[in-house]
Amino acid sequence: MNAALKIESLHKSFKTGFIPKKKTILKGISLSVNAGEIFGYLGPNGAGKTTTIKCILGLIFPDEGFIEVLGYPFLSLKAKEKLGFLPENPYFYDYLSASEFLDFYARLFGIKRTERQTKTRNLLRLVGLEKAAHIPLRKFSRGMLQRIGFSQALINDPDIVLLDEPLSGLDPIGRKEIRDIIVRLKEEGKTVFLSSHILQDIEMICDRVAILVEGEIINQGKITELISEKILFTEIIVSGIKPDDLAVLGGNVSTQGDRTLLKIHDEDRVESIFKLIQSSGGKIHSLIPRTQTLEDIFVGMVKKT
Ligand SMILES: Nc1ncnc2c1ncn2[C@@H]1O[C@H](COP(=O)(O)OP(=O)(O)O)[C@@H](O)[C@H]1O
Ligand SMILES: [Mg+2]
Repeated sequence: MNAALKIESLHKSFKTGFIPKKKTILKGISLSVNAGEIFGYLGPNGAGKTTTIKCILGLIFPDEGFIEVLGYPFLSLKAKEKLGFLPENPYFYDYLSASEFLDFYARLFGIKRTERQTKTRNLLRLVGLEKAAHIPLRKFSRGMLQRIGFSQALINDPDIVLLDEPLSGLDPIGRKEIRDIIVRLKEEGKTVFLSSHILQDIEMICDRVAILVEGEIINQGKITELISEKILFTEIIVSGIKPDDLAVLGGNVSTQGDRTLLKIHDEDRVESIFKLIQSSGGKIHSLIPRTQTLEDIFVGMVKKT
């Protein structure tokens, strides 16, 4: 399969300070995004995610390395035509309505009037804002603004959409809505490259991820390859057990009200503990095997570096 986006040995440094000092931000990034996948670019704040995206868009120039967009050199017009972009902190014109805003961007792309109307309508529908078409943007919630930002990033019908922290600053419902839109984009055949420091959100929707720490990619691959299915421990929530009996059960114990949380690290003991609880008249409210999450891996890696 052809790579939709290919980055090789990307280096970028900035000169900062009164007596300019070179600070290397990207230290040789290489990654490859397959056509039609959702690719997560993960890393803590300051890792260099936005800098990478700015390089892809040609907003800043790399010191070294190359970038290809669907086989075209990144600075070519062809490459630019294929890209859509949602910045981290998009700026909106408060006094425009949602549809006026989209119409404005469609005009910038030279889209004809009749086509603009259908396009605006379709995009508003895609992001679930068709009912808000005539409401001024200053009355929009953060989640609604993020959604209108999405529709703007799609105005030129790009093949690849770059989303810089599309989920940050949103409440859980807002995050779910944006995740759904991202999945919809994939279903429409688009390639999505999104950066984030929120791991749980990425875990749910990304096919592959690259983890960026201090300007270096320390791991990349399928989420299933980065996360082992191994059970780390089993959590059992019980009630109605006498403290003495609890001591016998072992494991980590914490009690809140009438409920006790047991953490069993030895998988082989889970069944016998289960029976013991039942025979001592206790009630089991839940039993959850915990596997490693991307968060665990991420934290482990950041600590190592
Ligand atoms: N134009 C710039 N001039 C100097 N330093 C910059 C510039 N842009 C970004 N940086 C620095 O580069 C580092 C990475 O920034 P950024 O790419 O925004 O990280 P992220 O998006 O992963 O949070 C930060 O330390 C930031 O201060
Ligand atoms: Mg950033």
